[in-house]
Amino acid sequence: MRDLMEITARPEVISLAGGLPDTSTFPPGSFARQMTKIAQESSAQALQYGPTEGFAETKECVREVMRAEGMDPDLDDIIITTGGQQAIDLVAKTLLDPGDVVVCEAPTYPGAVPVFCSYEAETIQLAIDEQGMIVEELERVCDRLAADGRRPKFVYSVPTFQNPAGVTMSAERRARLVDVARERELLVVEDNPYGLLRYEGEPDPPLYALEGGDYVLYLGTFSKILSPGIRLGWLCAPPPVMEKVVLGKQAADLCTSTLTQYFVREYFAEGRWRSYVEDLCGIYRARRDAMLEALERFLPAGASWSRPQGGLFCWATLPDYIDTTDLLAKALRENVAFVPGAAAFTDGRGGSSMRLNFSASSEEEIREGVRRIGAVVSEQVELFGAITGEHRLSGDRGEDEIPPGDVLPFRR
Ligand SMILES: Cc1ncc(COP(=O)(O)O)c(C=O)c1O
Repeated sequence: MRDLMEITARPEVISLAGGLPDTSTFPPGSFARQMTKIAQESSAQALQYGPTEGFAETKECVREVMRAEGMDPDLDDIIITTGGQQAIDLVAKTLLDPGDVVVCEAPTYPGAVPVFCSYEAETIQLAIDEQGMIVEELERVCDRLAADGRRPKFVYSVPTFQNPAGVTMSAERRARLVDVARERELLVVEDNPYGLLRYEGEPDPPLYALEGGDYVLYLGTFSKILSPGIRLGWLCAPPPVMEKVVLGKQAADLCTSTLTQYFVREYFAEGRWRSYVEDLCGIYRARRDAMLEALERFLPAGASWSRPQGGLFCWATLPDYIDTTDLLAKALRENVAFVPGAAAFTDGRGGSSMRLNFSASSEEEIREGVRRIGAVVSEQVELFGAITGEHRLSGDRGEDEIPPGDVLPFRR
């Protein structure tokens, strides 16, 4: 992923690979005003260390964001972190011992698994469908582990506008997951960077807000609703967990940037954060639509993709003989990039899928990027047909498909 991000930083590349919000939409005047005010009024404090847990004023901003999604945590249950990524790391650092099991979705956020691995945990991935995690699968995994005297240390889930699959867990599954967590005394780590980026449909409450959601730890971030550059995220956890998390945070970086916490405080004091999120939703909705139209137009039959109601990603799956890791090399030669699906699995699955981001490119770039991807995919489809004599463009073409040529089919 790091190598990929380096390549996609080149200006000639249309990158549908990253997960970047479009920070050019943030009004520079507003940024300048807030930073000038901080420099003039609070320079010494803003340039100083701060408390490891974060400032109470920053936590109030977090509470405002969480209230917008129906949650109301105690300030003592919140710690400000250096992005949501550090919150994942702190949870893992606090809870995991080598050999522990973490259960997550398949596919899952590609940035989470390396964290679990770095604490020598074993990651088990559960199948998802268009309603999110299949909770019966979780119960089966727990039963199987219990037979060996083991249990998952926690379940990691991105239930809303999942990265990378773009799907959202249904209300029934949410309720069931929280029930299972309570019945089995199982911690669930809910990672919710995208909940407020909704372009259609009605929200279901986060797991953390559900009746009986006491076993849920909650991770949030300002990255997608304001800026990833400020590196501000948070974690909500009950006191016994929080006590350890604070020690872990102190060891990691003493405190989160004081300067950017001041910035968030000033920004929220202006009272326009919600209207900025609405602006973002308008922009991203149009980009999502452009991507869905382009996928329809340029991907060959036999491809399928998610239709996310929010968030930043579509997940496309190509005919199974196409390996998207190989395809990426060809796509990069056409100056377009995506994330190969295998990056979101630990066990080699996802080989014919890809994650496509629609927040960081204009509608024109998205159309052109998907057109280029469509062209390299079509080339592969034709090549496969020429080599094997099979022209499996879609599962339903059947009889009218081009008849096999006089060639020996290759074993895949
Ligand atoms: C699901 C998920 N969690 C956490 C993060 C980390 O975000 P940040 O560290 O910028 O808050 C991301 C970033 O894309 C994400 O998609």
